Formats: sequence, C-alpha cells, structure tokens
Amino acid sequence: MRLFVALPIAEPARSEVAGLLRRLRSEEWPVRWIHEDGLHLTLKFFGEVAVERLEVIAEALRFAVPGTGPLPLTLGAPGAFPSPRRPRILWLGLVAPPALELLQDRFERSTEAIGFPPEGAPFHPHLTLGRLREGQRLPPDALRRLEAGYQQVPFMADQVVLYESVLGRGAPQYQPRLTLDLGE
Ligand code: 2AM
Repeated sequence: MRLFVALPIAEPARSEVAGLLRRLRSEEWPVRWIHEDGLHLTLKFFGEVAVERLEVIAEALRFAVPGTGPLPLTLGAPGAFPSPRRPRILWLGLVAPPALELLQDRFERSTEAIGFPPEGAPFHPHLTLGRLREGQRLPPDALRRLEAGYQQVPFMADQVVLYESVLGRGAPQYQPRLTLDLGE
C-alpha cells in the first residue's frame, strides 16, 4: 500500500482553493490539476509499504503527535517546482507557526527509527495544485494570474491523517487509514 501522512485542508481554505481550481481549469493551461476532494498538506511520504507495517507506522505517528496542538495556518503565495522560471509543479505555499515544522521533524525522527529514511530536502509546506504536461509551457504571467485568483485565508488544522493513496485510472483516491487529533 502507498502511504503518506498529511494535514487535511479545512474550511474556509478548502472552498477558497476549490474556487481557484475551478478558475484555473477554465484557463486551459497544459496542466493536470489535482482533484479538490483530496486537498492536503503532506508531512511525510512513505511510498509503497507492506500492509503488515501499517501498525508500526501508526504507532510512530501516535508517538510524534502529543503536545502539538491545533495549528493555525494561512494560505500563502503561489510557487512552482523546480523553480518559477521552469515550472513543472504549481503549488500554494502555507504560512505556518514553528509547531508545524516541529511536527514534521518529529514524524521524520519517529519514522526514521522504524526504517524510513528522512527527506533530504528542507521541508517546504505546500499544496500541490497541478502538474504541467510533459514538454509543455505555461504563459509567462501564469503565476501572477494564479495569485490573483484567491484570497490568502486563515484556517485551523486540528487533525493529522495517515492516507492510503490508491492509484488507478484517473486521479488517485486518498483513503484515511488513521486519524489523530492534534489535541488542545
Ligand atoms: P506533493 O503534494 O508535493 O505532490 C500523495 O502523493 C502525496 O505525497 C502528495 O501530496 C505528494 O506531494 C506527496 N509526495 C511526496 N513525495 C512523493 C513522491 N516521491 N511520490 C509521490 N508523492 C509524493
């Protein structure tokens, strides 16, 4: 099973991003946009994992969460990987308190202890919006137009979810396997 741990995006940010995606779809840029149902902020991607490991992963996540508390987040500026000049992946940044990075780091450590290597790259909290089709280009003002299409609204994250990503035809389905409250 393909697993990752993420924060679901709550209202009012979910509707704001859904509205943005609707507007972006009408732009007819050569981009595969994500499905708004699965909007999330990934904290740790495990990749393909044997089903027998689910419980030990769940235990590592339960160990990491206590003391975090609900996280006040805000939709931030848009960006692109690998860079705005050569966009392949379009995303929205998130403005977050230090507690988010601390939680992500705790996940890295607790899952490293059970055999998952830590992410080499620095943590860059983002919501992926879409991926450019192979060999295609965006209009030069794409990021500016994207930025004009939404409000940078605040929202609370009070749960963290271990998702299974079920690949098939069309968009992947994200099925929750474990939900943990971030607490008081
Ligand atoms: P992304 O938002 O940056 O695309 C499910 O695929 C989630 O896991 C996505 O949010 C994706 O992040 C994240 N992820 C991180 N590393 C990944 C990888 N190597 N392959 C697929 N998804 C990955």
